[in-house]
Amino acid sequence: MTWESARSLLRFPGRAMAASNRRGPRPLDDADERPPAASLCIASGKGGTGKSVVSASLGRRFSEAGRTLILDADMGIGNAHIMHGLSPDRSFVELVRGEIGIREALASCGGDLDLIAAGSGVSRMAGLTPPEMGLIAKGLVELEHEYDQVIVDSAAGISDQTLHLAAACDEVLVVTTPDLTAMTDAYAFLKVLWRARPDIAPRLVVNRADDMEHARGVAQRMDGVCRKFLGRTPRWTGWIPDDRAVPECVNARSPVVSRHPESPAGRALSALADVMLGELRRARPGGLGRTLSRHIGPLAASS
Ligand SMILES: Nc1ncnc2c1ncn2[C@@H]1O[C@H](COP(=O)(O)OP(=O)(O)OP(=O)(O)O)[C@@H](O)[C@H]1O
Ligand SMILES: [Mg+2]
Repeated sequence: MTWESARSLLRFPGRAMAASNRRGPRPLDDADERPPAASLCIASGKGGTGKSVVSASLGRRFSEAGRTLILDADMGIGNAHIMHGLSPDRSFVELVRGEIGIREALASCGGDLDLIAAGSGVSRMAGLTPPEMGLIAKGLVELEHEYDQVIVDSAAGISDQTLHLAAACDEVLVVTTPDLTAMTDAYAFLKVLWRARPDIAPRLVVNRADDMEHARGVAQRMDGVCRKFLGRTPRWTGWIPDDRAVPECVNARSPVVSRHPESPAGRALSALADVMLGELRRARPGGLGRTLSRHIGPLAASS
């Protein structure tokens, strides 16, 4: 079954990509003089913790303050576009194949928010070669002075590809739920991230908590294990309640902060966006494309 026929069975029409939707931003006249976008990776370790839910809402809120780009880094089977009601016909897949340039991969989510979508069921996109990653990095170098913020909606797991992208970002936000398996995988992710980027100070958000005390308990457990075995801790930055408004928004293909801003999850996501935007404003952006190129460069040359 093709994706198109599967989607029609799921009654998922997707928003048709108008030509004006396809191209994303116009290049800025002063792009050369602007600093590169500050970058934030939203990661987890375990799948299904809420990375894409968080990315969609943070992206929407960030875009109210400046041009924002979301990269769907779950490149083989991403669904970040669904959270914005898009059905893009171009993605990282065509970019990596060399069929299109990065600008042609941009899709507009409306306002100052753009997205580069992932493939749908393209398994080899989960294990890109260094030259293919280099192609993505090169494209990002071309774009990153035209945005204020870039969000990497990470894939689950700790593959080299996932780790390279996270390690190239200015900030990393790890999303866990109260499930023991999610916490264990968040710990594993932090362990490998710190090995790759010892200087980074990742943040932790507890999603799907019952209340503040529940979230605090999860954060304290993470804190204890990380301190004991890694000698350092992530910074607990917030929590998001388990809220039926979230799946309702996912099914309506809209970020929570847009569709249900006054819901408990909507308020928590807005508060988290404010904190993270403040952090990004304070960061001295290294340039995601440039940093990724530096990480990938030697690998690409030696492969
Ligand atoms: N705060 C919440 N309250 C209730 N349900 C939630 C909440 N956060 C996430 N969910 C549910 O969890 C599902 C998975 O969320 P999401 O797709 O954001 O996870 P993910 O970490 O991006 O997954 P993947 O690893 O597959 O990319 C959502 O479709 C939603 O139904
Ligand atoms: Mg996701």
